Amino acid sequence: MKNTLILMLALFTNLLLAQKMQLNLIPQPAEIQEFAGSFALTRTATIGYVGADAKPVAEMLAEKLNVPTGYTLVAKPARNANLLLSVNTTPNAKLGEEGYTLEASTNGVIISANEVAGLFYGVQTLLQLLPKEIESAKATSVNWNIPAVHITDYPRFGWRGLMLDVSRHFFTKEEVKKYIDDMVRYKYNTFHWHLTDDNGWRIEIKSLPKLTEVGAWRVERHGHFGDRDDVRPDEKSTVGGYYTQDDIREIVKYAAERHVTIVPEIDVPGHSMAALAAYPELSCTDQKVFVDPGTNFADWYDNGTFKMKVENTLNPSDEKVYEFLDKVFTEVAQLFPNPYIHVGGDECYKGYWKEDPGCQALMKQLGTHHVEDLQGYFMGRLEKILATKGKKLLGWDEILEGGLSPGATVMSWRGVKGGIEAAQMGHEVVMTPTTFAYLDYTQGDPTVDPPIYARLRCQKSYSFEPVPDGVDAKYILGGQGNLWTEQVPDQRYAYYMTYPRAWALSEVYWSQKKDKNWDSFSKRMEAHFQRSDVAGKNYSKAVYDPIVTAEKEAGELVLVMASEIPDLDLYYTIDDIMPDNFSPKYSAPVTLPEGPITVRVQAYRNGAPIGHLITLKRQELEERVGW
Ligand code: ACM
Repeated sequence: MKNTLILMLALFTNLLLAQKMQLNLIPQPAEIQEFAGSFALTRTATIGYVGADAKPVAEMLAEKLNVPTGYTLVAKPARNANLLLSVNTTPNAKLGEEGYTLEASTNGVIISANEVAGLFYGVQTLLQLLPKEIESAKATSVNWNIPAVHITDYPRFGWRGLMLDVSRHFFTKEEVKKYIDDMVRYKYNTFHWHLTDDNGWRIEIKSLPKLTEVGAWRVERHGHFGDRDDVRPDEKSTVGGYYTQDDIREIVKYAAERHVTIVPEIDVPGHSMAALAAYPELSCTDQKVFVDPGTNFADWYDNGTFKMKVENTLNPSDEKVYEFLDKVFTEVAQLFPNPYIHVGGDECYKGYWKEDPGCQALMKQLGTHHVEDLQGYFMGRLEKILATKGKKLLGWDEILEGGLSPGATVMSWRGVKGGIEAAQMGHEVVMTPTTFAYLDYTQGDPTVDPPIYARLRCQKSYSFEPVPDGVDAKYILGGQGNLWTEQVPDQRYAYYMTYPRAWALSEVYWSQKKDKNWDSFSKRMEAHFQRSDVAGKNYSKAVYDPIVTAEKEAGELVLVMASEIPDLDLYYTIDDIMPDNFSPKYSAPVTLPEGPITVRVQAYRNGAPIGHLITLKRQELEERVGW
């Protein structure tokens, strides 16, 4: 009897410990203390809030809980409740404006914060403490247990963003709201809305109606973006869309209710083909241009420079352009409360400016022989226009070329170099380097995931450190991930490209540097895969695919493999046969014999295959030397 009791006690303790192991929070909170036991949420649970400001968050929590539980919980003003949200009357200095404390015990959960934003983030954490079925869109029967924990949490950076390019692919108003809904679960607070580009102008400007009448629509094309057929002059433009100003106001409000601020981007003077399709007189050529459906409109060179075969820039020497910009930014400034307006500035081809008499005269007037200085002049004019609307200029790091206007904030994308330079000059910086934060890049093996521009694995995104050595952290506002959509034709694929890398980046921008740990993150990431499965949301499983590269040693080809997830076994063959878990298991680089080798690799976990089979011929491996 005594032995049985001891055994039961041991089992019970193990159960409790096992329960403690199951916290799968992303991003990782600053401080967590775990306790034995849990609170069981039932249909009799009460939800209370202290302070009228907390009401919308408490109501949002009730709504979120009621769908999967099938309960009819109602949030009420109360000092006592099973789930209590409370704004601190005496601020807790540690928490700042977005931090919170969450105290879960067997009696319930208390979330406290200095500001409502903190309560909102505390609620996101609470939802992640519940079983994965909380993501279900229909009532589900499980034990809704919340483990006993004490959490104190606050962000490392104030700017935690995702950028969505709605020009290359138009996302509807509802799709944009959904994207915002999901980013806030990971405590992102900034939505960078890339509203204009060569492939579509997406924001209604009432004083310039052709921007959307013409600029929002393009001809129908399918297939690889950048290789599509040119527009034929008699073709109808049927693909696209735009947001009316009412739509924009609705989305801005929706975002604000979720503690997200929207940074609109109007990308000028380059990337303006859609605007020029509507108002061709704004360029310095007489070329007729179309809203581009993804044609091969530029020649790219190995050093990263390019030549536009079609003009897509506004003419910096024409006063009409500044009148146009004044109209655009007057309306944009009225729609978006954010102090910043992003004016692009990236990838501006200046070949047509060089040839243009008006631009040449302007260069003479400015006393310069460098056509790049015209971009500096353009940005200076733009900064003054924005200042008259009470807005600050934010631009991609090319705005450093040709002289940075005094109050400009720089978004560093071509690596962190631009960010370092700007910070050293005392400018504020948002970090979003291609090498860590470009969500359009291929995340798995390019024989499986469609190759685009470059490769970026989730683990690499996770390893990002936004404050470079030697830079004063006070200039680094934070960072973001960018989803460009040349190769993203629908919402599901937007999710596939965004997640899990945006989970990794959420931890980069929210969590404390000392708490970052890939092995811990990757386990939690897999729990969020399961949550996404319940929700029916797409994400990439490329982390399960082997990383296959090669080296050359004394003229011989050497196979080098790795995996992002720690507990995978890689089995491979070289003789054109399918591998299984009785094939050779990879443990160290393998010198490959001569001959028409084809390497096939399959990852296994606990004896079961996982991820994609990777197949590479010798020539393809040769091309991977030096990856
Ligand atoms: C950019 O990716 N062109 C900013």
